[in-house]
Amino acid sequence: MAVAIEAEHLVKSFGEQVVLDDLSFSVEEGTVLGVLGPNGSGKTTAVKAVTGLYRVDSGQAKILGRSVIQDAEEIKQFTGFSGQYAAVDEDLSTAENLVLVGRLYGHSKMDARRRADQLIDAFDMGPYARKRVGQHSGGMRRRVDLACALVGDPRVLVLDEPTTGLDPTSRQGLWGMIEELVDGGMTLLLTTQYLEEADVLADQVLVIDEGRQVALGTPEELKGHLGGDRVQVELSSPKQDEGTAVRSIQTLLHDSEVNITASDGHLIFRTPDAARKLVPCVNALTEAGVAIEGISVQQPTLDDVFFALTQDSNTSVTNLPATERSE
Ligand SMILES: Nc1ncnc2c1ncn2[C@@H]1O[C@H](COP(=O)(O)OP(=O)(O)OP(=O)(O)O)[C@@H](O)[C@H]1O
Ligand SMILES: [Mg+2]
Repeated sequence: MAVAIEAEHLVKSFGEQVVLDDLSFSVEEGTVLGVLGPNGSGKTTAVKAVTGLYRVDSGQAKILGRSVIQDAEEIKQFTGFSGQYAAVDEDLSTAENLVLVGRLYGHSKMDARRRADQLIDAFDMGPYARKRVGQHSGGMRRRVDLACALVGDPRVLVLDEPTTGLDPTSRQGLWGMIEELVDGGMTLLLTTQYLEEADVLADQVLVIDEGRQVALGTPEELKGHLGGDRVQVELSSPKQDEGTAVRSIQTLLHDSEVNITASDGHLIFRTPDAARKLVPCVNALTEAGVAIEGISVQQPTLDDVFFALTQDSNTSVTNLPATERSE
């Protein structure tokens, strides 16, 4: 598969601060790379460097084989970008914003209007077409912003935190739209604070901190790195049952090495695909005569993954297993 976006050894400083520190990544055509990282880790700087909006001190970025600096004009024709803060004009309506962007692409008035109408339809924004964007909710404004990034019918789309600040319904709505675009063959680079978002949308996830790669892998690999979901079992009589409960769980999981910690009457351990193991776990404990008050499963969060990965990076593990790629 061809590489659509290629960032090679990007280095960028603002004053004394090194913000991108030899950052390299690539996105294959028709796939999605999600960039995760805490505030200030360099996500926005990285996507701006990759779209040519920022010049880097060294290294280079290419989109569909063209340099984002030398071939900037050409790049614009097939790349859409939506920044972290919606860049729509609040005094204009949804339709006017879209037409304006079309005109900036050099489309005729008629073509710009036609494309605006298409996008208003596709994004279900009919009732908001003539309303001033300044009166839109945050979610609707985000939609307009995403639509603006699509005016030029780009093959490559770059989205900087597209759903931050949106409620769960709006977020899922936007995910659906993004998924459709990707199903249509678009290549997507997106930054996000949400592991769930990366999980839903991304084929590959790059975790960065202080402008450096901390981990690269599929969402499953990232979670696997943590040892799976977190299961918490509340024992009715911890003093009496703790030892038996630990042994039952170890037997069930066929793993005497599974790290089970006991705290405050709870047993906590990690295991992949925990939801399927809940019933067997309850059965095993009941058979062993262990009474429980409750059992819960928590999927790894970005916090969990990130915490574990940055801890590891301090002890020199920086890469998850290489991902299988279909060439
Ligand atoms: N134009 C600028 N001038 C000076 N420093 C900057 C500039 N842009 C970013 N920085 C600094 O670079 C670092 C990385 O910023 P960046 O916006 O890329 O982080 P981010 O990962 O996108 O953060 P967030 O999650 O908050 O959006 C931060 O410390 C920020 O203060
Ligand atoms: Mg940012």
